[in-house]
Amino acid sequence: MTVRIGVIGTGAIGEDHARRITNTLTGGEVVAVNDVNTDQARAVVDNLKLNARVYDSGHDLIKADDVDAVLVTSWGPTHEEFVVAAIQAGKYVFCEKPLATTAQGCQNIVDAEIAAGKRLVQVGFMRPFDSGYRLLKKAIDAGEIGTPLMIHAAHRNPTVPETYITPMAIHDTLIHELDVFRWLLEDDYKTAQIEGIATDSPIWPDFRAAYRVNVIMDAVEQSHAKHCWVPITA
Ligand SMILES: NC(=O)c1ccc[n+]([C@@H]2O[C@H](COP(=O)([O-])OP(=O)(O)OC[C@H]3O[C@@H](n4cnc5c(N)ncnc54)[C@H](O)[C@@H]3O)[C@@H](O)[C@H]2O)c1
Repeated sequence: MTVRIGVIGTGAIGEDHARRITNTLTGGEVVAVNDVNTDQARAVVDNLKLNARVYDSGHDLIKADDVDAVLVTSWGPTHEEFVVAAIQAGKYVFCEKPLATTAQGCQNIVDAEIAAGKRLVQVGFMRPFDSGYRLLKKAIDAGEIGTPLMIHAAHRNPTVPETYITPMAIHDTLIHELDVFRWLLEDDYKTAQIEGIATDSPIWPDFRAAYRVNVIMDAVEQSHAKHCWVPITA
C-alpha cells in the first residue's frame, strides 16, 4: 500500500521531506503540495519530478480525497490551523516543530486529537532518533555518569535567514532541547525562567544578545541550563 501524502509549506524542510519520501523511503508518494508562494510549490514539483497537484489552499489539500496523510512544514504560526484541520478530516498528520507557537495553540491540537479519539499527530522532534543522542541516553540509563544533576546545552547559529525573528530562538530552536531533556531524564518540568542577555562578542559581532533558559525539572532538584545564542532581530 502506498500512503498518498500532501505537503503544506514547500520551503527548505518541506522540499527535504518531499525528496526523502520520493527518493529514499518506500511506501509513500507526494501527490499534493501547497505553499502561499505558489511558484515555490511548483518549483518543488518540477525539481523532484513529482506527479503532484499544486493546491492554492492548504485546507483544500487536506480535504482532497486522494490525500491520505498530511505533512505540515509551513511557517510555525500556521501549524495549528492546518494540524487541527487535518485531525478534523481524520487524517494522519506529521507536523514539523513547533507543534504551535503558543501553549493555547498546542492545547487546541491536543483537544482536537482527544475529540477525534485517535492518535493522528506526530511532531518533528528527531533528536531521540539520532545515534549520538541515543548513545547519551544509553550512558545515562546504564548509570555510567551516576545521577545527572545538571544539563548544559548550547545552540549556536552562525547565521539565520532574514525571516528568523527573536521569539523563534525559543519556539523554533531551543524547543529541541526542551524535548530532549524530558526524554533523556524521563523527567518533567517544574519551572522555567528566561533571561535576555546582552553580549559584546568580538568574534561574532552580529550576536548582540541571547536567551538563557533555566529549567527546573520535577524529580531532579538541580536546574538544567540551556543557552541559545542567535542574532537578535526584533
Ligand atoms: N525538525 C527540524 O530540525 C527542523 C528543521 C528545519 C525546519 N523545521 C521547521 O519546519 C518549518 C519550516 O521551516 P523551513 O526552514 O522549511 O522554513 P522556510 O521558510 O524555508 O519554509 C516555510 C514555507 O512555508 C510557506 N508558508 C508560510 N505560510 C504558509 C501558509 N499559510 N500556507 C502554506 N505555506 C505557507 C512559506 O512560503 C515557505 O515556503 C518551521 O516550523 C521550522 O521550525 C524543523
